[in-house]
Amino acid sequence: MLKVFLNSTKQRIAVPVVLAVLAVASSSALAAGDPAAGKAKAASCAGCHGVDGKALLPEYPNLAAQHESYIAKQLRDYQSGERKNAIMAGMAAALSEQDIDDIAAYYASQPAISGVADEEGLQKGMDIYRGGISGAGVPACSGCHGANGKGNPAATWPALAGQNAAYIILQLEQFRSTERANDPNAMMRSVAERLTDAEIKALSNYIMGLH
Ligand code: HEC
Ligand code: HEC
Repeated sequence: MLKVFLNSTKQRIAVPVVLAVLAVASSSALAAGDPAAGKAKAASCAGCHGVDGKALLPEYPNLAAQHESYIAKQLRDYQSGERKNAIMAGMAAALSEQDIDDIAAYYASQPAISGVADEEGLQKGMDIYRGGISGAGVPACSGCHGANGKGNPAATWPALAGQNAAYIILQLEQFRSTERANDPNAMMRSVAERLTDAEIKALSNYIMGLH
């Protein structure tokens, strides 16, 4: 198939290209970014987040299938200093508004990653994720992040499904200490401040196995 097109004239190549553009446009009607342009622009990100958005270390976040709106917000927050991280401040500094939209569209278009949870503590993590902790004022995570961890792109509530447990632990600790404070209305800080280390560990393990 590919060989035939490569050997044919420019006009004949144009047909599949137009079809591909239409397919991308219809699958992401609300999206501002261009995933094809984003793929090339994300070359400098691949060393940590992977070519396809699967991170190379468990402390780094997977970006595959994360919402475009959320990825773009985080990159703008690193630029403004609203979210503080030395590595990402440097990486985000050089990106234009269009670069951010394109890169966000690219990672959002990559297939979701499925992680595997440990048996240990799984029930505890599931109970808190789905039901919160009554008495401690911890709301159900599923109320915002969805029963399957798919989040809510319109509200910019991130997908969590399949995310690396080590990364989730770091983020919940940072919300708890308020080192990370870019959550609107302190939505996550007010949740994390009520979680113990053991609860954070159980939640992170459960979330990694969600899909
Ligand atoms: C040297 C490794 C490294 C490189 C290169 C890198 N990142 Fe990151 N990235 C990280 C780490 C570590 C974090 C978590 C930082 C924190 O705790 O805030 C992160 C976080 C992020 C997040 C937030 C994800 C979330 O779930 O909240 C986004 C989005 C992101 N990076 C995009 C990019 C893009 C786009 C590039 C390329 C322009 C890039 N990164 C390059 C290491 C890297
Ligand atoms: C009221 C809604 C709400 C509830 C309830 C909630 N979250 Fe969140 N969560 C958010 C929002 C909004 C963000 C993104 C903040 C931002 O813009 O950076 C977030 C971010 C996160 C992140 C960081 C994701 C990333 O990729 O960096 C983790 C981890 C997380 N939440 C876990 C949880 C867990 C675990 C619970 C339950 C104990 C929970 N959340 C309950 C709204 C909520």
